[in-house]
Amino acid sequence: MCNSLKQPHFTFTLLLRTTFNFTAILISKIMIEQNQTPEIMSLPRIGDKAPEFKAITTQGEINFPADYQGKWIILFSHPADFTPVCTSEFMTFAKRAPEFSALNCQLVGLSIDGLYSHIAWLRTIKDKIEFKGMKNMEVTFPLIEDITMEVAKKYGMIQPGESSTKAVRAVFFIDPKGIVRALIYYPLSMGRNFDELKRALIAMQTADAYNVATPADWQPGDDVIVPPAGSCGAAKNRMESKEEGVTCNDWFFCTKKLSLEQVNNPPKIKNQQHAYESLSVPQH
Ligand code: BEZ
Repeated sequence: MCNSLKQPHFTFTLLLRTTFNFTAILISKIMIEQNQTPEIMSLPRIGDKAPEFKAITTQGEINFPADYQGKWIILFSHPADFTPVCTSEFMTFAKRAPEFSALNCQLVGLSIDGLYSHIAWLRTIKDKIEFKGMKNMEVTFPLIEDITMEVAKKYGMIQPGESSTKAVRAVFFIDPKGIVRALIYYPLSMGRNFDELKRALIAMQTADAYNVATPADWQPGDDVIVPPAGSCGAAKNRMESKEEGVTCNDWFFCTKKLSLEQVNNPPKIKNQQHAYESLSVPQH
C-alpha cells in the first residue's frame, strides 16, 4: 500500500529534476553562445585593420595603433606577470628591443594583470633575475594593463581550451598602415623564438620593399622568390627571355639573388601594395 502510494511521487520528482537539469544546460548553452563565444572567438585576421583601443601601460596611456603610425608594431600577449617563462621572454625582448627598433618596429606587450603588478614585476626582473647571461634588464617598451580583458578579447588572446583567465602567447605583426600582416600563437608552456619573430618581420619588410616572396626557411641574404607569372603570355616570355638575374626552374618557380646589403637597406616605399597582393595580379 505504502509502496504504491510512493511510486507516482518518485516518478514525478524524477521528471521534475530531469526537466530542471535539461533547462539549466540549455540556458547555459544559450548564455555561452550569446555572451561569450563572439567575444572570445573574435580574432583579427591577416589583412584586417588592427582593432583600435586606448589603454594604460607602463609607459603611460596609448592610443593603438594610431600612436605608432608609420612604424611596424609587434603586439604580443603573455599569460601572467611573475611567471618564469614570461620572465625569460621579457628579458629577451628587453635585450633585443634595439634590434627591433632598428627595423622601425615598436614592441607592445600585454597581460591580464594590473599596472602595479606590471611595475613590480619589471622592477623585480631588473633587480633580481639572471637568465642566460642577461641581468639588470630594463623593459622600456609599453606593457598594457588589461584586467578587464577588453584588449585581449579584441585580439582573440583568450583561448578557453588553454585558459579562460590568462592570455595565450599571441604575437601580432601590424604594418605601418595599421594592417595585421601575420599572427603567431603559442601555448602557455612554450617560450617564443625571438630569432623567428625577427626573421618574420624582416621577411615581410623585404617582400614589401622588393615585391618578392621568401621561400621556406629563408634567411636575409638567401635567394628570394619572384612573383609567379600571372598569364600564359607572361609565363612564355619569362621562360624565353631569361630575365636578368632571374633563375627559373619552371615558369612558376623563379628565384633571384637579393644580397644582405639590399635586405638591410631597402628602398623607401610609398603606397606600395603588399607583395602578396601583387603576386596574384596577372603580369603582362
Ligand atoms: C610561465 O610564464 O611560466 C607560465 C605562465 C602560465 C602558465 C604556465 C607557465
